[in-house]
Amino acid sequence: MNRRDFLCAGATVAAAAMVLPGLAFAGGERTTVALQRPDTAGGKPLMTCLAERRTNRDLGREDVDLPTLGALLWAAWGINRENGRHVVPTAMNKQQVAVYAVRGDGVWEYLPKEHAIARVLEGDRRSLFDGSGLVLLYAAPREDRFAGMHVGSMYQNVGLCCASTGLANCVKFQKRDALDSELPLPKGWMTYISQSVARPR
Ligand SMILES: Cc1cc2nc3c(=O)[nH]c(=O)nc-3n(C[C@H](O)[C@H](O)[C@H](O)COP(=O)(O)O)c2cc1C
Repeated sequence: MNRRDFLCAGATVAAAAMVLPGLAFAGGERTTVALQRPDTAGGKPLMTCLAERRTNRDLGREDVDLPTLGALLWAAWGINRENGRHVVPTAMNKQQVAVYAVRGDGVWEYLPKEHAIARVLEGDRRSLFDGSGLVLLYAAPREDRFAGMHVGSMYQNVGLCCASTGLANCVKFQKRDALDSELPLPKGWMTYISQSVARPR
C-alpha cells in the first residue's frame, strides 16, 4: 500500500480520522493517522487465546491492515482507563516505554493518548529485520531495570491478540536494534526486543 492509500485507509477506518497538527518531526510536521478503537467485546475468549498463543515464523510479507494494527498497538500499550493508565502495568506507573511499527510505508510511533500513529521515518525498513508484514519495536530506557518486564508484558499481550485474530507472530532479539541509530528515541533509550507479525504464509 502506498502512502496515499494508507492515509485514505486510515481516514476510512477511523471514527474521527485526522492528521493531528503541530507534532514536530525533523524540522517539519509529521504525518499522524488516527487508529480505529479496538472492539473490546470481540475476539476469542481469553482462555482460547492462551491455549493458542505460540511462535509462528512462517510470516507473510503483506502489511497488516489498519484496524488490526490499531488492535495490536492497543494490546501492546493502549490506554484502557479514564485515568490514563495502560493495558500493561509499569513499575511505579512511570510508563517509560515506546512502541514503533515498521511498515511498508515507513516507521511509525504509537501515540497511546491519541490512539494514533505518527510517522518518524520514511521508507520500507522491514528488510532490516526479517521482512515480515509488520515489525513492532519495543523501546525503553537502557538503565531501567524494569524495562524487560514491561516489554515482556507488551509482547505477550500482542501474542495473545495474534492468537485471537489468527495472525502469526515471533518475538525476536536478533536485529532488534537495527534502527536505533535512526529512530527518534529519547536519550539513553534502546530497543529491547522486536516482534514480527503477519498473516501466516
Ligand atoms: C525474549 C525472547 C527472545 C527471542 N528471540 C528470538 C530470536 O531472536 N529469533 C527467533 O527466531 N525467535 C526468538 N524468540 C522466540 C522463541 O524462540 C520462542 O518463543 C520459543 O521457541 C518458544 O516457542 P513458543 O513461543 O511457541 O512457545 C524469542 C522469544 C523471546 C521470549
